[in-house]
This record gives sequence, C-alpha cells and structure tokens, in this order.
Amino acid sequence: MRRKLAAGNWKMNGTSAALSELEALARNFPSSDIDILICPPATLLHRAAGIVRETSVSVGGQDCHAAASGAHTGDISADMLVDAGASAVIVGHSERREDHGEQNETVRAKASAAMGAGIKAIVCVGESLEQRETSKTLDVIADQIEGSIPDQSTGDNLVVAYEPIWAIGTGKVPSLSDIQEVHDFIRTLLDQRFGKETAESVPLLYGGSVKPDNASDIFGVPNVDGALVGGASLKASDFSDIVKALEAA
Ligand code: PGA
Repeated sequence: MRRKLAAGNWKMNGTSAALSELEALARNFPSSDIDILICPPATLLHRAAGIVRETSVSVGGQDCHAAASGAHTGDISADMLVDAGASAVIVGHSERREDHGEQNETVRAKASAAMGAGIKAIVCVGESLEQRETSKTLDVIADQIEGSIPDQSTGDNLVVAYEPIWAIGTGKVPSLSDIQEVHDFIRTLLDQRFGKETAESVPLLYGGSVKPDNASDIFGVPNVDGALVGGASLKASDFSDIVKALEAA
C-alpha cells in the first residue's frame, strides 16, 4: 500500500546556517515508518544529502528542467539533482506556474524527466481563490491532473500534492470536507486513467499552511497521505511535530 510522506519545501530560503535545522531534523528521525523529505535550495542540496545519510530523512529538488542537459542557463536537470543526492523533485508548484509561466505541458515534461532519471516527481496542483469562489475548483484540478501527469506514472515514481494557491503562506486552510472532496476526486481521476492498483498506490499530499496545530486534523482526512509544507518546514521543531502527527495518523 502507499506510503505516507511528510515533505518540506524550503523555497528560496536558507544559506549554510540553515543546515543546522536539517541536522536537528535528521537527529530526531534516525528511523521512521513514514517517508520524510526536505527540498532545500539547490545550492544546499549536496551538503544536505550528506547530512541526512543513514537517517530516515531524504532530500529533493524544488524544480528541474525537462531536458537532460544543454544550453539552458541557470537551469538544473533531473540527473544533476540525482548526482547531488536527491530522491525526489517538486514540479509544477504554483509559484513556478505563476513566476515562470509554467503550463501543464511543461510540468508534465519535467515530471517525465524526473521519472526518467529515477526519482519521484511531486506534481503540484491547486486552484486560485477566484476559481474556488466561482466553483471551478474541480475543473481546474481535472485539467491540471490530466495535463501535468505523465503516462508512465506509477505508485513508485509519482506523488500528487493538492495545494490551493490561496492557502499557501496565508494561514488559511480549506475545511476538512473541502480537502477530502478534492483528494477523493484526484484519486478517482487517477483510477480512471491508470487503473485502481496504481491509483491506490500514489501518495496524495495536502499543502497550504500546514502547521503543528492543524496537522493531525488534516492527516485524519481520508485520502490524505501526507503534506507538502512550506513555512513550517524551516524549523526542525515545527516540522518534527508535523512528522510525528503523520506517524501517529
Ligand atoms: P506553506 O507553503 O506551508 O508555507 O503554506 C506550502 C507550499 O507552498 O508548499
């Protein structure tokens, strides 16, 4: 059956000093029944991989290019992430979709590149506030799932993160029933496209203002297999509490 995953996305935060937080997290979880992942800035990835070695924490990238190599100044390929020690990469985060104009097609190509390089693609989907308020949420999710998830997806190489854009970094969280509605819907979409066995094996994460004090409630929602955590992943103490809530769920 699918594994639970607590994933932290440090975004564009952290220089060398931040690695002490990762050291503390790794000390807290020498072993665990669940998967624990931190996606630091690319500049820290290789050192981060050294810190978490032989613990239950692994590290990943925040984005990758769709091509294996070439003339793409400033970009990083999935193979380069693997070389630096990554076991996963986030693709299609709403901040990439917004800041860099990434469309579903690009996200799908990046996810495909990650899978080809042998690491998990954490594909992010989520609606804007306007889309939520005009009852377009499920249409948007269906379009992003269809467009952003590659055909070669399996329970071993794909994770889907549902992140309502209006909940990211705002302290606002959808109701538990709204989270369940979207997660159930994503599971159904995966079932229709990949069949029941694959659909049941893909971890579905919720992301958007997950904190130590709301984590247990969110992890109690059916079809929520973990979280993608931004702000609260920057402090080992906060993220450890979220990991413990998921272990206990
Ligand atoms: P947040 O970010 O936890 O700070 O809301 C979540 C995310 O963007 O993955």
